[in-house]
Amino acid sequence: MTSPMRSFTFHPGPRLIAGPECALQIAAQLPPGPCLFVTDPGVTQLGLARSCLEALRDSGREVVIFDQVEADPSKETLLAAAAAGRTARVASVVGFGGGSPMDVAKLAAYLIGSGDDLDTIWGVGNANGARLPLALVPTTAGTGSEATPVAVITCEGGEKRGVNSPALIADWAALDPDLTLGMPRALTAATGIDAMVHAVEAYTSARLKNPLSDLHAREALRLLSNNLIRACGHPDDRDARSAMLLGAHLAGLAFANAPVAGVHALAYPLGGLHHLPHGLSNALMLRHVLAHNSEAAREDYAELAEIVAPECAGQGSQARAAVLIDRLDALVRESGIAQRLRDHGIPAEQLPLLAREAMKQQRLLVNNPCEISEADAQRLYEAAW
Ligand SMILES: NC(=O)c1ccc[n+]([C@@H]2O[C@H](COP(=O)([O-])OP(=O)(O)OC[C@H]3O[C@@H](n4cnc5c(N)ncnc54)[C@H](O)[C@@H]3O)[C@@H](O)[C@H]2O)c1
Ligand SMILES: [Fe+2]
Repeated sequence: MTSPMRSFTFHPGPRLIAGPECALQIAAQLPPGPCLFVTDPGVTQLGLARSCLEALRDSGREVVIFDQVEADPSKETLLAAAAAGRTARVASVVGFGGGSPMDVAKLAAYLIGSGDDLDTIWGVGNANGARLPLALVPTTAGTGSEATPVAVITCEGGEKRGVNSPALIADWAALDPDLTLGMPRALTAATGIDAMVHAVEAYTSARLKNPLSDLHAREALRLLSNNLIRACGHPDDRDARSAMLLGAHLAGLAFANAPVAGVHALAYPLGGLHHLPHGLSNALMLRHVLAHNSEAAREDYAELAEIVAPECAGQGSQARAAVLIDRLDALVRESGIAQRLRDHGIPAEQLPLLAREAMKQQRLLVNNPCEISEADAQRLYEAAW
């Protein structure tokens, strides 16, 4: 006999266009009128956006380019992007790049469309106005931001603050794996591990775990764990890049509906205070937070272990949970990431401050399968140091 269905909700995300050159189709989807195009200097220099920009211009609309988004974008950058769009009276917004430009595009589209003040919408469910039509094109296979209702901005004192609201889910997402070809190893590794953490944390999300997120998370973890090392070692491998981009998107859909937790909460202060890339910060804390959770999340970790290490099927749940942690740790190591906080210039004296800062991430900590207190957080940073 099956147990009765538990209540849940699931937002299926943006309309998806996928395949080589698919970003060119965005021009035909957006409403007429000027378009704000949000990207960053690295993406511009690589020329990744050239054909998409051409298609937008060829459709007869003015394109206002804002290309000054930095990694872990600041509030000032976001407000400057929104001001540029407002001045040009844009009718739509495109975010083109990694999580940083996509997050700025999402919030710029919302602030321009709704007229809301940024300081009134932080947190979960507070952005309820109407945003401008929005299309997102990822060029990293990591954040899944093109699928999620989340945008993350770095505020005063390095605090990472998020807005999480259905209004931020884009109208269109375009997945073109060719845009991720040639990505350097360190970026491939960090962003790919970020996506794997999204899948794992969605699968164990304490309040909103649900069967559809589980489905997406499992397939995401399969695609990502089977292709990460290949993509790192063979930057131009189209199949591996396609699998990573799809995996990152599926992980995004999973955590859009079953939010991430402790690994992200402890990763954020490393990005906010020390500017470590988001995926790298997650990679450094992954093993330690999973070990902390391993009893509370034992059954879920055991199920995921069979995806990353099928040979462990048949072992007890405690053994399989340990296999998951070891296998993910091995992937981090094989991807070439130096695994200790000290390898990345974090001074030991900073650990208590990091633990204090992590406690500000209650939005995420409430989703963890067990409590992480400030003392726990300090212990976990010490283990990672
Ligand atoms: N909205 C969400 O749901 C969500 C989820 C996780 C993380 N985030 C946020 O996303 C941001 C991180 O995004 P990210 O990890 O994608 O990195 P990023 O957008 O910060 O980009 C990092 C660097 O990679 C370069 N780059 C991008 N695409 C490239 C390519 N194809 N080839 C070579 N270089 C390329 C960029 O120019 C930049 O210099 C953080 O601010 C994080 O907090 C958001
Ligand atoms: Fe993330």
